[in-house]
Amino acid sequence: MNPAQSAYAVEIEGLQKSYRGRGAEAKMAVKGIDLRIPRGSFFGLLGPNGAGKSTTINILAGLVKKTAGRVVIGGYDSDTHEREARQMIGVVPQELVLDTFFTVRQALELHAGYYGIPAKKRQTQHIIDVMGLSDKADARPRSLSGGMRRRLLIGKALVHQPDILVLDEPTAGVDIELRTQLWDYVRELNRQGTTIVLTTHYLEEAEALCDEIAIMNHGAVVACDTKRRLMEGFDSKCVLVRLTQPIQELPEMLHSQGWELQADGRLLRHYAPRDSIMDAMLADLHAHGYEVADLSTRETELEAIFRHLTSMH
Ligand SMILES: Nc1ncnc2c1ncn2[C@@H]1O[C@H](COP(=O)(O)OP(=O)(O)OP(=O)(O)O)[C@@H](O)[C@H]1O
Ligand SMILES: [Mg+2]
Repeated sequence: MNPAQSAYAVEIEGLQKSYRGRGAEAKMAVKGIDLRIPRGSFFGLLGPNGAGKSTTINILAGLVKKTAGRVVIGGYDSDTHEREARQMIGVVPQELVLDTFFTVRQALELHAGYYGIPAKKRQTQHIIDVMGLSDKADARPRSLSGGMRRRLLIGKALVHQPDILVLDEPTAGVDIELRTQLWDYVRELNRQGTTIVLTTHYLEEAEALCDEIAIMNHGAVVACDTKRRLMEGFDSKCVLVRLTQPIQELPEMLHSQGWELQADGRLLRHYAPRDSIMDAMLADLHAHGYEVADLSTRETELEAIFRHLTSMH
């Protein structure tokens, strides 16, 4: 197959990983998952601690050997075309592993050399600037803060301008300013066509950035869809109502209909849009003589969906 024709940046089929501890029982960290990451997408791989996210990502990066299954990166099978597959992808691992001997600039140069990028085509200075490491360009990792080390790791993953950038917890320990800067940069890369795969425990980050989301739990994929469908499919919204005359206590009848009285005096109700009629819900309030001054509705947050899906399995 011509890799350029593949609709997927990454295709994973029946992927399994079993870690063998010395003497200990084998640990099935990834239990035969299938994942398709569309080319050009901003893909969030979410899940609680130990779900198997990093294991999956480290297999993509070639850092962990899979037990079984097939991995195709940018159209190249990682078993039969390992070198080509590696060129397609840049991975920022969760673990902060850096060679302590080289300065920031040297580390980036060496890494570019590793990918066979000629000196003239290297973007070392640009990467240093973008990652906010100009002051530290000639410092060794030992003298960098945790957040700066992570920036250097991100820089290293970018040297060969990969089609696919995989970020495993990139903002853990990164300050707010750099976080914003990093997301602006990654968004721009995505706009220019780079596929982004991200794991994060900050679900509001995933909600804001990702257009496709997979949720893993106990080594399995429990959901994988566009963010829109995932959120719509959940069929749950909530409405917040402000009454013209604030009330102190909620009548039992309204409570049994699902209304809750909030500390700020507003009434809140969760509902399923598919079989609810707003008019009828408001009529319940009118029946008690309440007048609605204002209302707003909101979608269920990704966090609620995440909690629901990871508690079921
Ligand atoms: N090198 C290893 N040897 C043995 N077991 C491992 C190893 N690495 C990971 N595991 C186990 O595999 C499972 C999945 O771990 P993994 O690091 O992939 O989870 P994760 O989803 O990335 O979690 P987190 O959100 O904490 O980063 C865990 O039970 C973990 O203990
Ligand atoms: Mg992890």
